Amino acid sequence: MSAPATAGNVYTPKVILLTGGAGFIGANVLIHLAQTYPDYRLICLDKLDVCSSVNNFSPIKNNPQFTFVQGDICSADLVRHLIQMYDVDTIMHFASQTHVDNSFGNSIHFTESNVKGTHTLLESVKSCGSQIKRFIHVSTDEVYGEQDADSNRSREHETPLNPTNPYAATKAAAEFIVKSYRSSFNLPTIITRGNNVYGPRQYPEKLIPKFTNILSRGGSCPLHGNGKNRRSFLHVEDVARAFDIILHRGITGEIYNIGSEEEFENIDVLNRLIKIFRKKYPACLNPSLPDSHYVTFVRDRAFNDFRYHIDSSSLYKLGWQRKENSLDVGLEKTVEWYMQNPTHWPNIEGALAAHPYLLPDIKGIAASSAVAPIAEQLILQASASPPAVVSPPASGSKALKWLIFGHKGWIGGQVLDALKTSRPQDEILLASARADDEVGVEQELLTLRPDRVVSLIGRTHGPGFTTIDYLEQKGKLRENVRDNLYAPVCLMYLAQKHGIHYTYLGTGCVFTYDAEHPLGGEPKNGFNEASLPNFFGSGYSTVKGFTDRLFHLMGNQSLNVRIRMPITADDGPRNFVTKITNYKKICSISNSMTVLPDLLPIMLEMAARKEVGTVNLCNPNPISHSQILQKYKEIVDPNFKWEEFSIEEQNKILAAERSNNCLSTARLQQFAPNVLPIDKAVEKVLHEMAARRKAGAGKQ
Ligand SMILES: NC(=O)c1ccc[n+]([C@@H]2O[C@H](COP(=O)([O-])OP(=O)(O)OC[C@H]3O[C@@H](n4cnc5c(N)ncnc54)[C@H](O)[C@@H]3O)[C@@H](O)[C@H]2O)c1
Repeated sequence: MSAPATAGNVYTPKVILLTGGAGFIGANVLIHLAQTYPDYRLICLDKLDVCSSVNNFSPIKNNPQFTFVQGDICSADLVRHLIQMYDVDTIMHFASQTHVDNSFGNSIHFTESNVKGTHTLLESVKSCGSQIKRFIHVSTDEVYGEQDADSNRSREHETPLNPTNPYAATKAAAEFIVKSYRSSFNLPTIITRGNNVYGPRQYPEKLIPKFTNILSRGGSCPLHGNGKNRRSFLHVEDVARAFDIILHRGITGEIYNIGSEEEFENIDVLNRLIKIFRKKYPACLNPSLPDSHYVTFVRDRAFNDFRYHIDSSSLYKLGWQRKENSLDVGLEKTVEWYMQNPTHWPNIEGALAAHPYLLPDIKGIAASSAVAPIAEQLILQASASPPAVVSPPASGSKALKWLIFGHKGWIGGQVLDALKTSRPQDEILLASARADDEVGVEQELLTLRPDRVVSLIGRTHGPGFTTIDYLEQKGKLRENVRDNLYAPVCLMYLAQKHGIHYTYLGTGCVFTYDAEHPLGGEPKNGFNEASLPNFFGSGYSTVKGFTDRLFHLMGNQSLNVRIRMPITADDGPRNFVTKITNYKKICSISNSMTVLPDLLPIMLEMAARKEVGTVNLCNPNPISHSQILQKYKEIVDPNFKWEEFSIEEQNKILAAERSNNCLSTARLQQFAPNVLPIDKAVEKVLHEMAARRKAGAGKQ
């Protein structure tokens, strides 16, 4: 194959296939190459994962030398086709699943993209004979594993690979495959291992852009562990220059560390960011609150390497020099970029979470269709026990004090139970002031000094009615506005005034299917957290829609939780399953729904971690009434029969229309990646209902 280049021997590519170019580093390298070498043909292959965006390469999108192809590196046919069609001679392989936190959840897709994807690329290169002259494989310093305070810098050929987290393990596995293709087939490979990179265009799930975005919203930043872990940071422009040099001057068969000499503790980086905001963007932070208000220590990662300390002398020998030597200057430029480009990454609330929230493995298994049958059995065994509660509390060992408004209600009672089970170390206080009594509430906040306020108040029914038709009666608008708008907004205002995190349980029944979000459309295209309410068919939804908007107007500093058609395992009249099994006829339409025992613990975890903004708290995917009733018949009552009627017939017997919609659960899934989809969650709840009835606590 190609003759090995030697230092001084400058390689000149003609057509580069760059994978992962809609991601952070890939895009910055693409822009650098396009602007520095206008003759190079650049083909970008990216599957456009959550962390990527076509906005990332917008500065070069109209460059005639640039072509973007949306696709997966795991598709050998596509890769081979691109290599042949564009006469590619060089591959720069950045595509990867990269977020360590996510790799602690379901990391199989890390193996898919990072190991199988790399292997597929190598096979495609091999099958194209000697066409590819240079294959740069982008790896990470994390493959070396943890180092202690006294360790020497890791060197490319001397330090053994010892990855300690699933992300790093997949990157090390990929490296070994690259090396084997070098030794077995003489492929012209080069491997790079980089330190942490920061700068413009990075998806805000990594430390620096995440903290920048949280501070720009006036929020408190979740710092893992004690914040003392050390990291070295490189500005992405320096990294782009490093790849430029490795592309042209790197020696095939070599490995290059790309690192910085300085190390910073994570807490130090956060303090520097707070300082930048205080100086340059003072309006974002409250001047009367101390800096410590913007730091929240949270439970550490499952494993958090203390430091990665690497030796980059081989790269220096090629002629690389860092220009962005001062972290403070690089951070200032980065913050400025995010402040000037607030819409570059829309809908990032989920990415700002401290950790993705991992439900017990058993549920994760169920979410994967490949092993569903076994998982289903496990779920059935598990369903007799109370709702499993999840990972250790996010707020470390510190017990929190919760003040609950609306604890006497149906959902209020369930929230108290979920709190007691999931956070036994915490203190629960029951509010005595009415939520619409501003003076009484403020007094209570000042005397009790809670860490979290949760509001479960609202008006959904009343004497003579189990449904929102109650609110359609003459004279009920005042009650509706007081309990569904004024009181929750009052609480939000007062909690914000006193710097206390506030969670409001609202509703997703403020939308109706429309042309952009049609019935039967892709669930991921459902109404998202930024969508504007478009359903005003009932007094309830109209008022709730305005409350939803007021959260946005108040700067999204609280957590606004939208639930829909709540389902539980009990036989109470408010349970959506009880309602539809008691109706004479049902109008079956697909809808997003909330299985409360599954999702309330997640809501509390979000509150504990001071998540803010709106979240659609529904199980993924919509489900119809008749699908639920069919499962009810199979699991709970084999004799059950039901009749259906049309929406027009239904409207004749209701005082108000009902909202039907599908909500996007992308934010929720980002926070809790293995949350059960609605069909599995409903089955689980129905098994519990059947077990309860069998045990005698059945239908009254
Ligand atoms: N960011 C850092 O601090 C850092 C440090 C060292 C090494 N690295 C390495 O640099 C590379 C780029 O990192 P980044 O920070 O730009 O990551 P990123 O997450 O911003 O970008 C990764 C890109 O890969 C794409 N991708 C993922 N799987 C794919 C697949 N199967 N097919 C096609 N495209 C796919 C994604 O859509 C995304 O655009 C990665 O290989 C990473 O391991 C990053």
